[in-house]
Amino acid sequence: MPLIISANFGRPNSDTLAGYLANGGYEGLKKAFSLKPGQVMDEVKKSGLRGRGGAGFPTGVKWSFLDTKSGKPIYMCVNADESEPGTFKDRHIINRDPHLLLEGIAIACYAVGCRHAFIYIRGEFFKQAKILERAVAEAVAGNYLGERILGTEFSLKVVVHRGAGAYICGEETGLINSLEGNKGQPRIKPPFPAVSGLYGCPTVVNNVETLAAVPWILRNGGEAYAKIGTPKSTGTKMFCVSGPVRNPNWFEKDMGYPLRDLLNRDAGGMCEGLKLKACIPGGSSMPILTADEVEKANLDYESMNALGSFLGSGGIVAIPHTFSMVSLARNLASFYAHESCGQCTPCREGSGWVHRLLVAIEAGRGRPGDLELLHDLCNNMRAWATGPQPILKWIGKDEGLGGGKTICVFSDALAWPIQSYLVKFRSEFEEAIAKARPSVSVGQVVPGHAEQHSAGTRAGASVH
Ligand SMILES: Cc1cc2nc3c(=O)[nH]c(=O)nc-3n(C[C@H](O)[C@H](O)[C@H](O)COP(=O)(O)O)c2cc1C
Ligand code: SF4
Repeated sequence: MPLIISANFGRPNSDTLAGYLANGGYEGLKKAFSLKPGQVMDEVKKSGLRGRGGAGFPTGVKWSFLDTKSGKPIYMCVNADESEPGTFKDRHIINRDPHLLLEGIAIACYAVGCRHAFIYIRGEFFKQAKILERAVAEAVAGNYLGERILGTEFSLKVVVHRGAGAYICGEETGLINSLEGNKGQPRIKPPFPAVSGLYGCPTVVNNVETLAAVPWILRNGGEAYAKIGTPKSTGTKMFCVSGPVRNPNWFEKDMGYPLRDLLNRDAGGMCEGLKLKACIPGGSSMPILTADEVEKANLDYESMNALGSFLGSGGIVAIPHTFSMVSLARNLASFYAHESCGQCTPCREGSGWVHRLLVAIEAGRGRPGDLELLHDLCNNMRAWATGPQPILKWIGKDEGLGGGKTICVFSDALAWPIQSYLVKFRSEFEEAIAKARPSVSVGQVVPGHAEQHSAGTRAGASVH
């Protein structure tokens, strides 16, 4: 099991240029310069590398979509926003091996003909931004970035840009808007960034971990990378394990590694006295797995899809038997309701409404019919993807799906997990409602439900 991303972590001075060079750093870039840009792209296509930001789109294919005929400059945006709850891998790559990322950026930019890259880093990552700025300065001084790199015709400027702390700025077009100085709100697609992205020019957006895999691919060849992992989910991936396990940490594993082993062996199992009840498999936006499903799950895109979930960003959160799924759902909804950028009605209204209903259920003010209402709301919020979403097997039926009703997939990213909690842990929600305070007379408004009534949802119905 080779370490591709974390091989240098913990080695002396791994965050400096000298430390990086001592471990074979920038050899991948030299290899790239011995090839034509198209051959570098082919090598990445051969590797089967898929984007590690969450969607898992094939990286080489994405690069080949760039509009190179327009005559406009091509930009690269490196997504270092890492805002998906449960995910903490990109910051470790930057902390411990910033030149790995810079080398990946340089190779990618050489392949796609980009001369100007921006690293968009989450505003709170102040320390990591400083590390990157220092690493960029070192790389320019060593002629690994900047003008006529290593004596070639290829020049590349890399700018580190700090965001201002909004989850939605991790979505690629929200990121581009924010980078341009606009509100961090996603754009309607098409046009896709590959055609019209930053400043209206062809743009490629890649995650930190995706680019960090590229130097190894160039050094060892795409075919060698494709032999690691599973046939469709190649290579290794950084997984982040949090929750009450004995050894919460990041782990680099071959794709296809059993989730059970990651939790029990690598992360040391649940803390004393706790049993695993459920597991968030790939960041908070992903449908949850039950403890039984964890036994069957492998850490690759296909295995997760077969279980009706996604590998996402690799942020794995263990949920103990003592934790209420109603609280978890309410907590999640409060985050998404706060972070919705507000452009689309199903997302803006739906996230707040789902949150208010869950607050009421948790506080003992739930009412019969609330679970059906929550489902209905979520069906209408799952509005981005066009057509049916067959991976959502556990819902049973796909109601209310028109598709194309929201600008980005954020709305679905709240609906998916909430519906998975409602279906897989329904009894906990039913019990919370059954324990609710007895009804009071018609017309009496109780705080928390007042907004639902004002939104016209159940005007005239009795309240508790
Ligand atoms: C709401 C939302 C938040 C996202 N947050 C991140 C993020 O923090 N980091 C990231 O790399 N990708 C994030 N993405 C995915 C990006 O839009 C994009 O697909 C990704 O950066 C592409 O890089 P990749 O192909 O290398 O994965 C997010 C997507 C959505 C819809
Ligand atoms: S789905 Fe939500 S986050 Fe995405 S653009 Fe619409 S309102 Fe904004």
